[in-house]
Amino acid sequence: IPQELTGLVLEHLREIPDFPEPGVLFRDITPLLADGPAFSRLVEGLADHYRGRVDAVAGLESRGFILAAPLAVALGTGMLTVRKGGKLPGPVIGADYALEYGTARMELRPESVEPGSRVLVIDDVLATGGTAAASISLLEQAGARVDDVCMLLELAALGGRAQLAGRRLASVVVF
Ligand code: PRP
Ligand code: MG
Repeated sequence: IPQELTGLVLEHLREIPDFPEPGVLFRDITPLLADGPAFSRLVEGLADHYRGRVDAVAGLESRGFILAAPLAVALGTGMLTVRKGGKLPGPVIGADYALEYGTARMELRPESVEPGSRVLVIDDVLATGGTAAASISLLEQAGARVDDVCMLLELAALGGRAQLAGRRLASVVVF
């Protein structure tokens, strides 16, 4: 990932202490999205990095969709939606994963995946890696090859990288 993109994202982040709960520092990407030239430079920069290397871009609901859709258009590929449980009409496959309290579920329509296609997974934040790992397992179950994962922000202390062993993880900013 070009260094220029790291600076661009850092310049447009907003940090909110104690949100959504005490002790958590929330990093908000909405100032970046709201800045037309910055958002466009981010998407073009990512497209330059991945052009010719992927056949489809998978966004992880919800915030991953914001990045996956323009990137897919810039690359001229399709976009796949890995959605939260209960949102996609069938037939779907699903994967449950653990949250700090309780569980969550991601689902995919396997027919949306071209068997053997190279799918880039993109999301806004890598924290524990649970969302990404569950989503990748679904894409692979559906026949995709997931060699590349792109995260706008990686919260390294939460160890998500370990869940993506054997894949190329490109994080634009690592905290
Ligand atoms: C956030 C974030 C990532 C995920 C990262 O999504 O957008 O998708 O958590 O956490 P993990 O690595 O520990 O799984 P969230 O489910 O909060 O909701 P949203 O994208 O719908 O806002
Ligand atoms: Mg999310």
